[in-house]
Amino acid sequence: MNAIELGSFRSMDDFRLCEFGNSKGRAALLRRGREVLDGHGDKFIEMVRGLERVDFPEFRASAVYLPTSTSEYFLFSPSWYFRHRLLTENIVADIKMGNRQILSVGSGPAYLERFLVERLGICADQITLSDKEPISQNGFNAFTFDMYGAWPYFGRNFDYILFPQSTFLSLNFHENAERQAHLHNLIENSLEWITEAGQVRICGEPNTQNIFAVKERLEAGHPDLEISCDDDLITCSRKTG
Ligand SMILES: C[S@@+](CC[C@H](N)C(=O)[O-])C[C@H]1O[C@@H](n2cnc3c(N)ncnc32)[C@H](O)[C@@H]1O
Repeated sequence: MNAIELGSFRSMDDFRLCEFGNSKGRAALLRRGREVLDGHGDKFIEMVRGLERVDFPEFRASAVYLPTSTSEYFLFSPSWYFRHRLLTENIVADIKMGNRQILSVGSGPAYLERFLVERLGICADQITLSDKEPISQNGFNAFTFDMYGAWPYFGRNFDYILFPQSTFLSLNFHENAERQAHLHNLIENSLEWITEAGQVRICGEPNTQNIFAVKERLEAGHPDLEISCDDDLITCSRKTG
């Protein structure tokens, strides 16, 4: 595995430590969260970072947060997702101007989704939350299901299906047929529910042989599909024209 394949991590050690839940590995991820604080010239992301520090005290010190030392999941702030291009300022404008529908899979406490509504002017009825755990946020459409299993009937198509850091733990680096089947299944299911011009956007899935194997398989089954794998963001959409 080379440096590029390590995605968010600085070294193989960072990744392995994090994978094994070691405190040093956790510290490495929190350190990456703190880097969102550093100025990097993007005014929009800096604005998001400023607002989320007011709205969500848990993200004051770092854009990544671990609720308790025994928690399985890290939680991620809105600026983390803009920094990693799960969403961009242009996509937010498109969602607002085009009245687009979003499905967020593995939304957890929905920091990003609440921020879109409370700070960026998107209507709650444009967002559908989903998770394998019960969802406690009011005001949103919500579904509870296992994204690796059968998907429910949503009754509508979506312009954006987002996976905000929800695939990482189960689909990480090691090449593995079961992981490839899971990733393939969740993209196939997403394709059933996106609009003609819709996009699937998966954040937190580092570049690995698993992704490239699935990309090949999807492209063979869907010649009209455009798939890009760039660091830890995967996007899928249908070719236009
Ligand atoms: C790392 S947390 C991220 C939560 C939230 N998106 C955030 O950014 O803070 C991963 C989320 O994915 C959910 N998840 C994990 N496996 C899942 C599955 N098989 N089906 C649906 N949701 C899943 C977890 O319950 C958790 O809420």
